Amino acid sequence: GVDNQSIRLEKRGAAALITLDRPKQLNALNDALSREVLRAAQGFDADPEVGAIVLAGSQKAFAAGADIKEMLSKSFADLFTDNYFAAWDQLATIRKPLIAAVNGFALGGGCELAMMCDFIIAGQGAQFGQPEIKLGILPGIGGSQRLTKLVGRSLAMDLILTGRLISAEEARSAGLVARVVPDDQVLAVALEAAATIAGYSAPAVMMAKEAVNRAEETALTEGLLHERRLFQASFATQGQKEGMSAFLEKRKPAFSGR
Ligand code: CAA
Repeated sequence: GVDNQSIRLEKRGAAALITLDRPKQLNALNDALSREVLRAAQGFDADPEVGAIVLAGSQKAFAAGADIKEMLSKSFADLFTDNYFAAWDQLATIRKPLIAAVNGFALGGGCELAMMCDFIIAGQGAQFGQPEIKLGILPGIGGSQRLTKLVGRSLAMDLILTGRLISAEEARSAGLVARVVPDDQVLAVALEAAATIAGYSAPAVMMAKEAVNRAEETALTEGLLHERRLFQASFATQGQKEGMSAFLEKRKPAFSGR
């Protein structure tokens, strides 16, 4: 297979796990890591055995941001010509659910990477922030946009302008994090959520993700129309007949994956 330097890959049943693995740099995101994460996510997206993907770091850090060492000497021309960080946009093209399992620091690019996932499950000790301002820069992988959409303008301004960190519980109450669980249960809970999702009808799951994402991009009338068409389309799937029959026959559904 493919040799990864910065991540580890596993399959646990129908849940796939991508673990960031640059412990000495607190999983700082460098160019190689970004390419590996994208390739892995695309591979799992295309793998019919996989129903959902979990992205995790270590106990100490989900990721402490973009790699400051790699960035230090770069010029505007370097960043512009290489379109530095633009590759991360492709994570948004993954059609299967992507769950961030966050322990420890999720800072800068680490917080941005967690926000690129579909939802975040965090440990009680996790800390979130966009401290780029302390380095003389600003968020560059979507932080100013996604954080503002998730938590609103006021808290986003506070975090991005002061660089202060917030706890998992604050992040949950602000809408950044979906669930807070004990630190040692984060991965298990995230994998369980992935397994639950993977047990449902695959096209329904992908349509549901697409519909929710639409809410971020479009005005309400367009979004509602998009949802209605997808809802109608779901009646063309085996899953709809099977899911509804199973309910009425009081048995577990057997979804075909198509
Ligand atoms: N890039 C490169 N290396 C990093 C790093 C990063 N973002 N974050 C931590 N490291 C390295 C440290 O340099 C250190 O390396 P050495 O052992 O070689 O000295 C090692 O990881 C351990 O870090 P610390 O000794 O600092 O650990 P700590 O427990 O004292 O502090 C921390 C942890 C608070 C997370 C601190 O490491 C920190 O503040 N890191 C930087 C956070 C940051 O500024 N992130 C934003 C980066 S810019 C960005 O992300 C831009 C963007 O939007 C895309």
